[in-house]
Amino acid sequence: MDMTDTGTAPSKPTPTLPDAQVVTSVCHYTDRLFAFRCTRPQSLRFRSGEFVMIGLMGDNGKPLLRAYSIASPAWDEELEFYSIKVPDGPLTSRLQHIQPGEQIILRPKPVGTLVLDALLPGKRLWMLATGTGIAPFASLLREPETWEKYEQVIVMHTCRELAELTYGRELIEALPDDPLIGELVGGKLRYYPTTTREDSPIMGRVTDNLASGKVFADLDIPPLDPAHDRAMVCGSLAFNLDIKKILEDAGLREGANSNPAEYVVEKAFVD
Ligand code: A2P
Repeated sequence: MDMTDTGTAPSKPTPTLPDAQVVTSVCHYTDRLFAFRCTRPQSLRFRSGEFVMIGLMGDNGKPLLRAYSIASPAWDEELEFYSIKVPDGPLTSRLQHIQPGEQIILRPKPVGTLVLDALLPGKRLWMLATGTGIAPFASLLREPETWEKYEQVIVMHTCRELAELTYGRELIEALPDDPLIGELVGGKLRYYPTTTREDSPIMGRVTDNLASGKVFADLDIPPLDPAHDRAMVCGSLAFNLDIKKILEDAGLREGANSNPAEYVVEKAFVD
């Protein structure tokens, strides 16, 4: 991904507020979507796929924080976030204007269920996302353990329009050439991007393409089988509910950190 188009901060930026981190680069994808990178607190340890609370100082002097999936992998020396821009959203209406060198607040307490540990061992890992729900997968796709654990990783991502797929597409298309994980990725990656409101090579919601069997036919993959298939889900509340039904009907059970099973779900950040 090219995060240089709005400039890059000096090499070793130092935050000046408690729990603050310095933005190092920003990239706008559409008028509704952008990503940025920032410094990482030295003490922050997290598992790829987890989220943290980030935000800005409010006008009332209190921090305005929201949950954001960390889009960078656990080994990255910086942190990356992928965000929607909501014109009247309390946080994103301001966050979307952030520039390299400026500070954000980050509470260094990572949590979340979209982690490899919450799934039982399996053959295929399905990453199922709508909109900004691709963010935790941007982390997990750059995590070597993901590729070591699974024979195949299938990414289904649905957005309304083609441009909204760009962040995920650029990241996924760069994986085979990644110096760290390119070799691990090998032939394991299957990418299935779809749109619902603009013509594109593959159309339709993740849910419909799973329920109709289209994705299995297109990718030449057998139908979901709880013995082999594992799934991670991240999207809107309605999407998550609809997908859960499809996965449960196929015999997959929801897992958690304390009780690993066949699939896990997290709600994508919404302002
Ligand atoms: P659709 O255009 O048919 O509503 P949004 O931008 O509203 O967050 O939606 C992102 C993508 O998620 C859109 O392509 C949208 O399809 C799809 N989507 C919304 N709700 C669901 C759902 N319940 N199940 C599957 N896909 C959904």
